[in-house]
Amino acid sequence: MDVMVNVTPTPYDVVIGPGTRRELDERVTNLLPDARRAVVVTQAAVAKQAWFAALTLSIPYEIVLIGDGEDAKNFSTIETLCRAFVEMGLSRGDVVVAVGGGLVSDVVGFAAAIYHRGVASVTLSTTLLGQIDAAIGGKTGINLPEGKNLVGTFTQPLLVICDTETLSTLDEAAWRCGRGEMAKYAFLGDAKPSTDILGEALEEQVFRCVAIKAEVVASDERESGHRMVLNYGHTLGHAIEAVGLDLRAQGSLAPVTTMQHGEAVAVGLAFAARLARRMGRIDDARVVLHEEILEGFGLSGALPGDLSAAALLDAMSRDKKAHHDLTFVLDGPNGVEPVRGVDPAIVLATLMDMGAKP
Ligand code: GLY
Repeated sequence: MDVMVNVTPTPYDVVIGPGTRRELDERVTNLLPDARRAVVVTQAAVAKQAWFAALTLSIPYEIVLIGDGEDAKNFSTIETLCRAFVEMGLSRGDVVVAVGGGLVSDVVGFAAAIYHRGVASVTLSTTLLGQIDAAIGGKTGINLPEGKNLVGTFTQPLLVICDTETLSTLDEAAWRCGRGEMAKYAFLGDAKPSTDILGEALEEQVFRCVAIKAEVVASDERESGHRMVLNYGHTLGHAIEAVGLDLRAQGSLAPVTTMQHGEAVAVGLAFAARLARRMGRIDDARVVLHEEILEGFGLSGALPGDLSAAALLDAMSRDKKAHHDLTFVLDGPNGVEPVRGVDPAIVLATLMDMGAKP
């Protein structure tokens, strides 16, 4: 199953399904017949999978490993990669292949975007989060000590392959991470929001999410408006992650310090529904639908205990999408859309209603 991401000047395909990794070589050869060399970038845990050893390319290639976790998403990894590209003789007509989850596609996409002012990149995405979100849409980047994803580019890949067989070795935390992101798609796209996605086969779920993301990206590649809907549930989700990081740095072992991105987004979706209800944008039935979808994906919309509403509000005010006011992506009569200038008092009241301390 292919989904085209119709961006200009170069639309590209997302190839979805079990075993699609086997199409990598032929697709790269067809797209880049003049490429003479490739660098494959992955992580140790991916490189030790049996299917990885069976991957081949017809052009000469070398494999570079990068580290795990958010700590590896930094300028040092970019320098290491670019210097490896030089050492391996990669020219502007060649290709970089990222094999892994969202961290790998973000970092490798950024290195490819700036190496020789831009070399083609292809992603073979191996996590649910990567397949339905991070690998598609051209957001590349790294973190700074001051915050996540603060440096990067919009640079579209040449091709994305989402082989659903590679998901079979994901641990439960990685599934929860992807499912939190998947839950938001039940409220995006043209279909009436419903629990239908819960009953679909994995390939169909991935296809549905990719098709929605492709349509949104094609309509607003650089996130000047509509693309913000992809951040449904993320304003509070990111704030929970930021507060969790701060608490962890202070030595706290509170549950929030170990939450996965998707778990934080799940809470963010439950919160966004309650906020929209409080603002009169949706009715109770729609709030219940949010809860049913989260529950169906095995996720909780409950705010972890002992969080301060004021600290969460402060973190949300610093969100990249905020443009100096309090911006949320909220459900409403016209579907999910960005809403600027939300009254902080309503936000605080909603958080406290969910059990936050003042
Ligand atoms: N992950 C949200 C976006 O790609 O815009």
